[in-house]
Amino acid sequence: MDEDLKVKESTIGINLMLKEVIEGLSKSRKELPCKYFYDERGSQLFDEICSLDEYYVTRTELDIMRTYIDEMSEVMGRQLMLVEYGSGSSEKIKIILDHVDGISTYVPIDISCQHLAKSATQIAAKYKKLEVIPVCADYNKPFSIPEPKNEILHKIVYFPGSTIGNFHPVEARKFLSRIKDVAGPKGGLLIGVDLKKDTTILNSAYNDSQGVTAAFNLNQLKRFNRELGSNFDLANFKHKAFYNDKEGRVEMHIISQAPQEVRLNGTTISFNKDESIWTESSYKYSLAEFEAIAKDAGFSVKQVWTDKNNLFSVQYLNVENY
Ligand code: AVJ
Repeated sequence: MDEDLKVKESTIGINLMLKEVIEGLSKSRKELPCKYFYDERGSQLFDEICSLDEYYVTRTELDIMRTYIDEMSEVMGRQLMLVEYGSGSSEKIKIILDHVDGISTYVPIDISCQHLAKSATQIAAKYKKLEVIPVCADYNKPFSIPEPKNEILHKIVYFPGSTIGNFHPVEARKFLSRIKDVAGPKGGLLIGVDLKKDTTILNSAYNDSQGVTAAFNLNQLKRFNRELGSNFDLANFKHKAFYNDKEGRVEMHIISQAPQEVRLNGTTISFNKDESIWTESSYKYSLAEFEAIAKDAGFSVKQVWTDKNNLFSVQYLNVENY
């Protein structure tokens, strides 16, 4: 299985990556899709970010999960298929699989095929009665889930980590509405949503003192050099992240330290000194703002769990209009 998955990644993936990277860097305001952070090294760096004191997100979400997992189990029901979007978050899924006994079939979906094959194998070995159906896909694009052997009464999508924050609000609404189509009638969504908070907390979460976030941001240039044959000089680019209060989002950028040119598969990309590549947005929501988007997408918010400092929320949404 490992072999098949690898082949898929290197043949289909590279052309699309090349196209999307050139497209993004050819815009007047340069940008990159944030999914390309997560090669093997990038996934490792992200795991390191998650264990930093300054990065409150993961620790807080885990706390909420551990504290309220029985209430979550109650609301999720029985004979369900749990579809996890982006299955890197092994610790969170283990809390769910350990405590929610209504899950018959688990479908982890991830863009990193090797990562997925490894973690799906581990999960299947640990939870012997669970049907595990890994799907290697970009969950932003249409994908299909193989027919499960178990009889399923409803589907619940699990989308942790506040990855929904990577979407601009209009796109977030559209994305939620596609999740609704995957979950179907009687379906649900268990989602982690990061909340608006003090700016200093946000700025230090995305500018950690050890430079792990900086390494994570710049790692994708190394990845392009290796996989696309580009010649980014890592010494000439710098990480920048800040909370944009007006837009309600943390922005990450890569800043060119000098005027320079980069070659990428026959295309030359020119940079001015201080020119930015916008690499990520991480939107922060109030509960009311998120509820409005969820409603527009056809969900109703059934239950919200937060930590005592209101840093983060885990929410259960029901498919309302299908
Ligand atoms: C995985 C998208 C939720 O936005 O906080 C961490 C990624 N970027 N540090 C986030 C990230 C910089 C993270 N998400």
